[in-house]
Amino acid sequence: MKTCKKFSFQDQDEHLEVTIEETIQQDYGLYIWPSAPVLAQYVWHNRQKLQSKSVLEIGAGTSLPGIVAARCGANVILSDSQQLVDALDACNTNLKLNNIDNGVVLGITWGQISSTLLELPAMDIILGSDCFYDSQDFEDILVTVHAIMQQNPNCQFWTTYQQRSCNRTIEHLLRKWDFKCQLVPLQSFHADGSDIAGFGMLNSPTVEMLKITMHIPIRNGDNYVTDYFLTRLLV
Ligand SMILES: C[S@@+](CC[C@H](N)C(=O)[O-])C[C@H]1O[C@@H](n2cnc3c(N)ncnc32)[C@H](O)[C@@H]1O
Repeated sequence: MKTCKKFSFQDQDEHLEVTIEETIQQDYGLYIWPSAPVLAQYVWHNRQKLQSKSVLEIGAGTSLPGIVAARCGANVILSDSQQLVDALDACNTNLKLNNIDNGVVLGITWGQISSTLLELPAMDIILGSDCFYDSQDFEDILVTVHAIMQQNPNCQFWTTYQQRSCNRTIEHLLRKWDFKCQLVPLQSFHADGSDIAGFGMLNSPTVEMLKITMHIPIRNGDNYVTDYFLTRLLV
């Protein structure tokens, strides 16, 4: 069954509405996961930084964060696994539903260094909502992000993580691939309430917002968190 959800982002001066189609099915659904409105709210909160920037969403599925980025003026590529045609169709459907003419959809499978991945232009921001859900994929996701960041070491990976199990960790992988990670408090971008842009979060699991970068020097006063984040997120 396909349904459309409306999301309404606002602050004192501005307002944005987007519509996202999701497919609710027992065997294979394309849902809007609770991580998506959190990341979309972060995108909305940082929209001034995204003007004309190159943004890639990985594991996009229903693509809410990428759609918000595009509507806020970014040049957006939505991607999902090359093997998951339904997911790629969902990306295209949601671009069309929101009248985004300049968005591009690509098949990018985590961990595969494909010609599509190698031919990507330099990206400023990578978005990933609820991609870290199966620990077998964790390193593949970071390999993909690492490969993209080779083109632009200042690229940032903004990702939301739904806490599912206390046994899962990406700590060793962040260290292995030389990433730095900042935990962004939800209240700092108004994502700590029971409703985000019309999406009810009351019964949702805990979602964390992470900003992952490469080779950023740690200076006094910088807010880069390693051990704190690692002990909180990855217990
Ligand atoms: C939990 S869903 C999250 C979807 C969407 N980002 C959200 O938060 O609502 C995970 C997404 O990752 C995609 N995915 C799964 N395995 C993948 C892979 N190996 N490479 C790329 N994408 C993959 C799925 O198709 C799905 O869209």
